Amino acid sequence: GLDAAARDLLRQLIVCDEVDSTNAQLLTRLERDDGHGVAMLAERQTAGRGRRGRSWISPFSAGINLSIGWQFSGGVQLLEGLSLAVGVALARALEEFGVPDVRLKWPNDVWCRGRKLAGVLLELSGDLTDRCGVVVGIGLNVGLRGDSAAAIDQPWIDLHSVRPGIDRNRLAAAMLNRLLPLLRSYTEPGPERGFSAYRDAWLALDQFAGRPVRLQSASREWCGTAAGVDSSGALILDMDGERKLFHGGEVSLRED
Ligand code: ATP
Ligand code: BTN
Repeated sequence: GLDAAARDLLRQLIVCDEVDSTNAQLLTRLERDDGHGVAMLAERQTAGRGRRGRSWISPFSAGINLSIGWQFSGGVQLLEGLSLAVGVALARALEEFGVPDVRLKWPNDVWCRGRKLAGVLLELSGDLTDRCGVVVGIGLNVGLRGDSAAAIDQPWIDLHSVRPGIDRNRLAAAMLNRLLPLLRSYTEPGPERGFSAYRDAWLALDQFAGRPVRLQSASREWCGTAAGVDSSGALILDMDGERKLFHGGEVSLRED
């Protein structure tokens, strides 16, 4: 179940059978000024989204499709590194249930045994200079079956194959218990604000630390060694001693 802190921050929990995308639904609610503290879980999405127009395959009862809406003031720069901090929170929730070998792939994936277990998608609304809304969307594979999984064009894994028997509702509650306080601490003044409090934890879970990687933007690519992230969550690429920083929106990371 939800703990007291999460219950305090959660205004509404919507559970539905089928939607286009839980992120799309909550963005609409935020635009109507009615999405703050709202969480939505869907059994199935007909148009689940990933980053940059890609799709997230989410067939009936095969995973956890969760979005949380959050409204705050102070500008979008407060969210720097949030997708990485969300990854840390998800890893902790999974560890709570005994899921082994959880790692993070910059900037927004949870991996397990070298394959993608979950993805995080942040979407924004509002004027962004002061009033902002953010939807934190999480898709996690619990038990994918062959037919729909065949459409996934990269290596994936589901919870059933690493740790069968986990109760989906309890895991979803554990995620909310961590994500709601995380959103509050990110967007309210306080000493813990921002990514720096999560950096060490992220580095300890880094799937690609010290490994050769390729970073691809729409127009070019860079090769080097992954060297962790800085205090803002930017990826550090080491190219023969020359270091370059990459920010989340612009590039995709691939093993080289
Ligand atoms: P990036 O590093 O740019 O985030 P990515 O390949 O992980 O790259 P995303 O947009 O984050 O891309 O995620 C969407 C991608 O995830 C899809 O293009 C598909 O390859 C993959 N995908 C879709 N559904 C699933 C799923 N249920 N499980 C695992 N992977 C999936
Ligand atoms: C990614 O790896 O690109 C992110 C995938 C995010 C998928 C989740 S499922 C719940 C929420 N609703 C969506 O349409 N997308 C996110």
